[in-house]
Amino acid sequence: MFYSPVITNGSEAAASDKLHLFKYVEDSEQYKLMTFESHGGYKAWKKVLTEMQPQQVIDEVKNSGLRGRGGAGFPTGMKWGFVPKDSSKPRYLCCNADESEPGTCKDRVLMERDPHGVIEGMAIGAYAIGCHTMFIYIRGEFNHCIDRMEQAVEEAYAKGHLGKNIHGSGYDLDMIVHTGGGAYICGEETALLNSLEGERGMSRIRPPFPAIEGLYACPTIVNNVESLAAVPHIINRGAEWYRTLGTEKSAGTKLFSLSGHVKRPGNYEVELGFSLKKLLYDPAYGGGILGDKKLKGVIPGGASTPFLTPEMIDVNLDYESLTAVGSMLGSGAVIVFDEDTCIVWVIQKLIQFFKHESCGKCTPCREGTGWLKQIIDRIEAGGGQPGDIEKIEEICGNILGRTICPLGDAAVMPIQSSIRLWREEWQYHIEHGKCMVKTEFPFK
Ligand SMILES: Cc1cc2nc3c(=O)[nH]c(=O)nc-3n(C[C@H](O)[C@H](O)[C@H](O)COP(=O)(O)O)c2cc1C
Ligand code: SF4
Repeated sequence: MFYSPVITNGSEAAASDKLHLFKYVEDSEQYKLMTFESHGGYKAWKKVLTEMQPQQVIDEVKNSGLRGRGGAGFPTGMKWGFVPKDSSKPRYLCCNADESEPGTCKDRVLMERDPHGVIEGMAIGAYAIGCHTMFIYIRGEFNHCIDRMEQAVEEAYAKGHLGKNIHGSGYDLDMIVHTGGGAYICGEETALLNSLEGERGMSRIRPPFPAIEGLYACPTIVNNVESLAAVPHIINRGAEWYRTLGTEKSAGTKLFSLSGHVKRPGNYEVELGFSLKKLLYDPAYGGGILGDKKLKGVIPGGASTPFLTPEMIDVNLDYESLTAVGSMLGSGAVIVFDEDTCIVWVIQKLIQFFKHESCGKCTPCREGTGWLKQIIDRIEAGGGQPGDIEKIEEICGNILGRTICPLGDAAVMPIQSSIRLWREEWQYHIEHGKCMVKTEFPFK
């Protein structure tokens, strides 16, 4: 996959002062506490500690319409409200920084470039749910993020933003930076909790949900980095302001990681409801398809979301619009394929990933992803047989909706959509033992 460090505000949105997550992302000093504070950092945290009750914080976030940016889009304030008020157990907040969904590379930018923004959002979330120990679970390979976060936590303690009796409020809050082992499944919230407890990273059966029984069987909230990073801005500027961004049901801005066959791959902050076509073709964003080739397809929300064809890209990037065209916003990873990409080759790479990352706890996913990989490897190698497509469809149907966690669904949805959209290409591959398109990959 192409990766480029292009990080841009996107000129239009910057001009109208709507951006907040990436407002200072191009300032190379933003990761330092002094610079962060000079840009208004930790103002929201102080406001919360001195002027707001936990319930007011929850209500403000609820009213803002913020929805989780980790993939499922669950309303953040509502999730915080599920933590039982009368529980005598400790409560925990875990920031999910595992970011392993193929194509997704936006949380790492927040951690590397604006780590105090992440800490401030976490602290406010912790206060809202009555938590005194919070964790950030960072993907093991993200060495630079881990260094930056650890350094920022140290600075925050030294300046009294974390620790005992924070700013004389009587509120205590500790933060622990935890490094994962680099397993995709540990981004799934219950596997993440298992891993934090020192167990093997395997998903848990729900109920109970983590808000009731999570880390060490105590009430726990798991939130994505980007979700939490939005919170200080909501506190500073108000829920009403946040609601002016995006659409009625998809409020705010979203970070999109654009990759694949585009001229300007990178991370872009845009309002929810932004045009996918514009993201791909506008010179300020994707700038069009590499080599001015034709577009073949797009995965709009990370490797687990169904494909869109060129006829379907006239769609807005928000939760409802993408669902309406049969796909999902997911984690906001937009992966682009040009006309010369073999769809069977793409699916082979995806199923290889999902099979490898299956935790093995439930049979349909553990066995099914392996069977799918075997058949698809054979087709890609030129040994396709009549009935293979039907067999793949049957296996997918036996995985979808029948697993403990959504990894099973994630593995099959792109396969199902690729057969629905490019069935003749699958058939050609099986009949002729080779790709239908002229495949010239700059990578293998
Ligand atoms: C296989 C799998 C991997 C996931 N990986 C991540 C991840 O890397 N980061 C993340 O925030 N959420 C990930 N999620 C979603 C989390 O389970 C959870 O919904 C999310 O962290 C909740 O945060 P939010 O409400 O702020 O979106 C993953 C889910 C699944 C099924
Ligand atoms: S769906 Fe896959 S990853 Fe999820 S619990 Fe079952 S085996 Fe594990």
